[in-house]
Amino acid sequence: MFKVNENYLKLPGSYLFSTIGKKVAAYQAAHPDTEIIRLGIGDVTQPLAPAIIESLHRAVEEMGQAETFRGYAPDLGYAFLREAIARNDYQDRGAEIGADEIFISDGAKSDSGNIQEIFSTDNRIAVCDPVYPVYVDSNVMAGRTGVYDPARETWSDVIYMPCTAENGFSPEFPAETPDLIYLCFPNNPTGSVITRERLQEWVDYANKIGAVIIYDAAYEAYISEENVPHTIYECGGARTCAIELKSFSKNAGFTGVRLSYTVIPKELKCGDTALHSLWARRHGTKYNGAPYIIQRAGEAVYSPEGKAQLKEQVAYYMKNARVICQGLKEAGYTVSGGVNAPYIWLKTPGSMTSWEFFDYLLEKAHVVGTPGSGFGPSGEGYFRLTAFGSYENTVAALERIKRL
Ligand SMILES: Cc1ncc(COP(=O)(O)O)c(C=O)c1O
Repeated sequence: MFKVNENYLKLPGSYLFSTIGKKVAAYQAAHPDTEIIRLGIGDVTQPLAPAIIESLHRAVEEMGQAETFRGYAPDLGYAFLREAIARNDYQDRGAEIGADEIFISDGAKSDSGNIQEIFSTDNRIAVCDPVYPVYVDSNVMAGRTGVYDPARETWSDVIYMPCTAENGFSPEFPAETPDLIYLCFPNNPTGSVITRERLQEWVDYANKIGAVIIYDAAYEAYISEENVPHTIYECGGARTCAIELKSFSKNAGFTGVRLSYTVIPKELKCGDTALHSLWARRHGTKYNGAPYIIQRAGEAVYSPEGKAQLKEQVAYYMKNARVICQGLKEAGYTVSGGVNAPYIWLKTPGSMTSWEFFDYLLEKAHVVGTPGSGFGPSGEGYFRLTAFGSYENTVAALERIKRL
């Protein structure tokens, strides 16, 4: 008789966004004429930039001609894309990363969920609290997190690093010693950032204790301030302790197109074993490459036209972020984020819990956001709004919130 992976049975409830989806669907069914504005899930709304569309069309044409048709992509990605990434995202910023240290993939969600596979199940993970849920849940599935405490909503073997108003939503070094440290900056869900000096301290700390930092830079394109690092490899010593994940979803609107990459420097080793070789082995065995057409679309992100168009797209969303921040402040809310990130993190009014505020906002303003508690216990009493809506909807949502 077969048995299931019992670790899956330990996962509490359903995925945060399924719960929200069900609540919103139920509300809409009961109020069919109400126009609900969704500023909850971090999905983009603007169409792909013209440079990307042109590149997609060209690649599609190539696939229709015998001379230019492509089959399986190289395991680790096409050189044209890996070289463009190495040059634009790293070397031009003074970060020493080679094209052969970049692995092309179909999403930072899958990479951030899969990367734990190359580590021992004995390793202790440390995560920010609140956190992007994939880091914890993928470790639950792997059996790395111990026992769940439903009252505290925490796992016995996970080290939580609270990110609160007191520490500016940037974690302190944990009291216990972790093996794997998940960091995400600019942060989802709080919209906070880390300074270059502070990230350097994390890199020094990881090197000292022999830990690996898994650095999720999915929102890097939204950085607007000077002293905020664009990649962890701006820090000295990161090549021996850091893996970086990067998505094309938020800088280029690829949420439905699917493209991302992971960087593993060759010096990152456990004894004589290079993590680069393990990930290459995993990629080669379990993945047959992002589609050629999509990798060409990714290449266009780095063309001069692509860069200019995407800068405008990011500016569009950041204009929304300003509308949200200003509107909320005018309405008397305590707000953070929204300056180097498309997420606005607000304190719920009075003593409302995150889910109470979710229901209140849905019922009274017909606006959907994300309860902070869904990202971890330290998110209780907070709420996340995203700048990824259309400008018109964002303005309308804030008008409604201000009228409450
Ligand atoms: C922190 C973080 N990492 C990764 C992802 C997923 O990115 P992708 O669309 O490339 O799978 C998200 C999506 O919301 C995210 O917030």
